[in-house]
Amino acid sequence: MLTVKEAIEQRRSVRKFRPDPVPDECITALLDAARLAPSGCNAQPWRFNIVKDGDAKSKLALAAYDQSFMAKAPVVVVCCADIKGYMEGTVSGIQDLGKIGAVKDRIVKILLDRSEQMESQMKVTSTEQLGGRIAFNVAIAIEHVVLRALDFGLGSCWVRLIDTQMIKDIFGWDDNIYVVALLPIGYPDELPKPRKRLGIEDIVII
Ligand SMILES: Cc1cc2nc3c(=O)[nH]c(=O)nc-3n(C[C@H](O)[C@H](O)[C@H](O)COP(=O)(O)O)c2cc1C
Repeated sequence: MLTVKEAIEQRRSVRKFRPDPVPDECITALLDAARLAPSGCNAQPWRFNIVKDGDAKSKLALAAYDQSFMAKAPVVVVCCADIKGYMEGTVSGIQDLGKIGAVKDRIVKILLDRSEQMESQMKVTSTEQLGGRIAFNVAIAIEHVVLRALDFGLGSCWVRLIDTQMIKDIFGWDDNIYVVALLPIGYPDELPKPRKRLGIEDIVII
């Protein structure tokens, strides 16, 4: 098992995979890592569809502007936000936070007011806009999956260059689902070099 530091340092975006299947126990462990991620008000809006079928993977690759490497991954995880689930999870999450005393009553009230505002905005705001606001919660869960995958020798690559409507049409999903990213996963068949990064001095704002 890697330390968090090792996983962070060793992770690369992998775009070439061996054909070996990923055991179901690994997939379960990755989903377990996802569900433990933090989220605003503990709303947990992430939802995942695990795709192993070759035809569906090819369709997903096309929906990612023909990023064909994806179709060769043994598994593609479609990472989504559930908009109604977010609203429901937010309200119960806020109440829980208040009950355990993690936030003051005043903050509970502000959060509940905001959630009410968002609920009324839902009627007039597009899924893409709402989904975009919720997506960063899902992104945290996705990165949990990405890092945990290294414990099993698995590699992955975030894929966000996607036609979200095309993906929803593949599965027949309605507007309640916002597709955040695709995550092809498998045993790496390449060892990508580390990509350039900004230095600490470049990312600190004075
Ligand atoms: C939000 C996000 C979207 C990305 N979308 C794509 C994508 O559509 N296709 C792709 O090949 N890589 C994609 N990547 C991978 C990046 O290109 C990669 O993380 C970056 O070049 C740094 O390389 P590294 O991950 O190996 O450190 C994406 C990464 C992130 C975080």
